[in-house]
Amino acid sequence: MKPPALPDLRLPDPHLPDHHRGPRMPDGLAARAAALDAADPLAAVRGRFLLPEGVVYLDGNSLGALPAAVPAAVEDAVHRQWGTDLIRSWNANGWWEAPVRTGDAIGRLIGAAPGQVVAGDSTSVQLFNTLLAAARARPGRRLLLTDPDHFPTDQYIADSVGRLLGLDVRRVPARDAAEVLAAEAGNVAVAAYAPVDYRTGELHDMAALTAAAHRAGALAHWDLCHAAGALPVELDAVEADFAVGCGYKYLSGGPGAPAFAYVAHRHQAAFDHPLTGWHGHAEPFAMAGTYTPAKDVTRARIGTPALLSLIALEAALTAFDGVDPKTVREKGLSLTGFFQECADTLLDGLGFTSVTPRDPARRGSQVALRHPEAYPLVAALTARGVIGDMRAPDLLRFGFNALYVTHADVLRAVTELRDIASRGAHLAAEFRRRPTVT
Ligand SMILES: Cc1ncc(COP(=O)(O)O)c(C=O)c1O
Repeated sequence: MKPPALPDLRLPDPHLPDHHRGPRMPDGLAARAAALDAADPLAAVRGRFLLPEGVVYLDGNSLGALPAAVPAAVEDAVHRQWGTDLIRSWNANGWWEAPVRTGDAIGRLIGAAPGQVVAGDSTSVQLFNTLLAAARARPGRRLLLTDPDHFPTDQYIADSVGRLLGLDVRRVPARDAAEVLAAEAGNVAVAAYAPVDYRTGELHDMAALTAAAHRAGALAHWDLCHAAGALPVELDAVEADFAVGCGYKYLSGGPGAPAFAYVAHRHQAAFDHPLTGWHGHAEPFAMAGTYTPAKDVTRARIGTPALLSLIALEAALTAFDGVDPKTVREKGLSLTGFFQECADTLLDGLGFTSVTPRDPARRGSQVALRHPEAYPLVAALTARGVIGDMRAPDLLRFGFNALYVTHADVLRAVTELRDIASRGAHLAAEFRRRPTVT
């Protein structure tokens, strides 16, 4: 195996002899990885990404890899559109329509027909805007349900929306939500959940939970951060009401990429959101002193979008051109299943516990392992060019973007992890110092 090209990603491991080029892969698993990769219908799509040589990238669930189409698009946006066309770009280069045009491109990946998704701002902002609008759409109801295992920003914003509207926020695990919705029918305004648990990778049944919310007269709000681009989400088919998600994980839109908001057609006319910025006005350039919302999804626009990032995201989405979301799902399951198989075989007796469900119907596109030394293990892996991440206190997290991860990557990751854990290489002092971002 060749050492990674990036010196900052693969620092010399003082516990390995100079000639070390990575541990030997077990023959049986190496043959299986090769066969699975040879049969991979998405093999050629990996070429649509610029991946550093020798790096195994299993953190696309935090920051997707760089799509090859992005640098030229950003270069054009900076030099030609901004540098030369200047303000004329709003009309000449489609800047004004970019949030809805990019929203529709995302919509194709999340089962949303055109005209229901806008791109822009951050997930937190979109969450606040749509969650508050959803709660306003069910006046008189006192309860907002959310998941105690939801990502922190989702819980904080649910609490804030609760305070603003005088609602009780009740934290109910996704598996119990249908029961509570039935018991509290008539009282719940919104059920706000995520299809994929960001820590464990557990997949929840969106269709069942949305139907349970509707039976209770409530609305279903979904955070798709760990699903968009990873799973064939079917927002229209399951009759979801509102959804948000980020652009920087499986959509690979880049650091701080714009997020997106989905407002189902049937809710648009009455969409009463708090962030009534001028881009959502029916006639933004009439410069009226009072807000008249646009009639369609453009009312979910807020203010001037971060165009350089939006252009990068739009270019990134072309990596999905001609790719069937079902194929993405099949390969994602193959990668996560193979990871679990390799971990069962290679990590046995080294103190790891499997956390992510084995049942493919209950598994997203990530796998988590529990180990008391999670942080130093992930740091030691990163030093060898295998990049995952950890979530406190003890989870090692590996995300699998089916567009560019291979089964050979999976085997190398687990083989390196075994080598590190069995040698105690992660016990070195350098792997204990935690930077700000883990
Ligand atoms: C489920 C979920 N929601 C929201 C966020 C973050 O929101 P923002 O894009 O505003 O930082 C994350 C980030 O990892 C996430 O995993």
